[in-house]
Amino acid sequence: NILSGSHPLMDGRTNNAPLIRALRGERPERTPVWFMRQAGRSLPEYRALRAENGMLEACLDPALASEITLQPVRRHGVDAAVFFSDIVVPFRLAGVDVELVSGRGPVFTEPVRTSDDVTRLRAEHGADRLREALDPVREAVRLTTAELGGTPLIGFTGAPFTLAAYLVEGGPSRDHLRARTLMHSDPDTWRALLEWAAELCGVFLEAQAEAGASAVQLFDSWAGSLSAADYRDHVAWASRRTLEPVRRLGVRDDREGDGEASARIRSVPVIHFAVGSGHLLEELAQVGVDALGVDWRTPLDDASRRLGHLFPLQGNLDPAFLGAPPRVLEDHVADVLRRGEQAPAHVLNLGHGVPPTADPDVLSRIVELAHGD
Ligand code: CP3
Repeated sequence: NILSGSHPLMDGRTNNAPLIRALRGERPERTPVWFMRQAGRSLPEYRALRAENGMLEACLDPALASEITLQPVRRHGVDAAVFFSDIVVPFRLAGVDVELVSGRGPVFTEPVRTSDDVTRLRAEHGADRLREALDPVREAVRLTTAELGGTPLIGFTGAPFTLAAYLVEGGPSRDHLRARTLMHSDPDTWRALLEWAAELCGVFLEAQAEAGASAVQLFDSWAGSLSAADYRDHVAWASRRTLEPVRRLGVRDDREGDGEASARIRSVPVIHFAVGSGHLLEELAQVGVDALGVDWRTPLDDASRRLGHLFPLQGNLDPAFLGAPPRVLEDHVADVLRRGEQAPAHVLNLGHGVPPTADPDVLSRIVELAHGD
């Protein structure tokens, strides 16, 4: 599959953007920076727009989702936009009953716990139903990339384990105990559940990439609650499968071929991220990705050494420093940038999402520091 000629990676808009170059392992002229959850409650302009709209309604309103995606790019001058959506959106579009409860997170009306539950999910909420409902997502991506110019849009999806952690529990949980118990006590049901989730998440991610996202991130957020062995044996295959459709999307790049038959095929770069996953780095790298997101507990130089200096790294400012005095924050940013030099390439980010209490001016300041202004 070749991306269309009007895709931002194909028509010259984002192919050489600092973010894309860094994700390919190059060292662009400046260190690219963006923030997970940069669109959201830390911004007064977001709170104003969200006031009259539910979270999922906002995600599925193309004009609104696009505007919210663009807000942090305008305000902070970050090197990427991240699509305003949520990890539960593909399930919602396939007809699963789910809400995003403010201050809590995803809540599923009917938790999925038995083999019959999974059979019903697969029968009633399959990928075909999702495919028919993806127009608002594609439209929001198109509206957004039309405004972004040379700034790449990052698409994303949750990973099957993270979603299973919500589905099996019915809502947020600390240790994802029920999900992990199911994984060990009924491996067939577990496999069927993850297979379904991987297919839906893969379709959701592919739609964003085809519609114009120049990179994608897999949020394997709660994988940190698993041992390395459990991640390898029960979960990694599903994350890999989620990425397959995007990995198949080739991008023809004729730039250096002078129109000859030497056109190179490139793909949409993939970032893999999990929280509290220092013990899983080597496993996460095996999933078949271009770059790894690192949370704030593992120094970037250590992470790079463990990975044989093979992977561009993204991260890993400790969100706690956002509230520290300017000098303390500046020293922390300098330390993370210095450690990031050990990796083949570095994308500056937080080690997890922007907290709703963050002062937006502090985020703008971090962008200036990364760009050397
Ligand atoms: O990063 C971005 O700026 C893009 C937007 C984005 C959202 N959710 C919007 C959102 C992204 C990338 C996500 C992913 C997501 N959603 C993850 C993986 C990332 C991670 O944090 O590890 C997870 C686990 C979720 C599930 C989820 N959705 C939670 C835990 C919450 C927070 C609940 C709360 O109110 O504290 C949500 C809701 C949500 N998703 C909000 C936003 C901006 C807040 C909704 C609001 O404004 O009321």
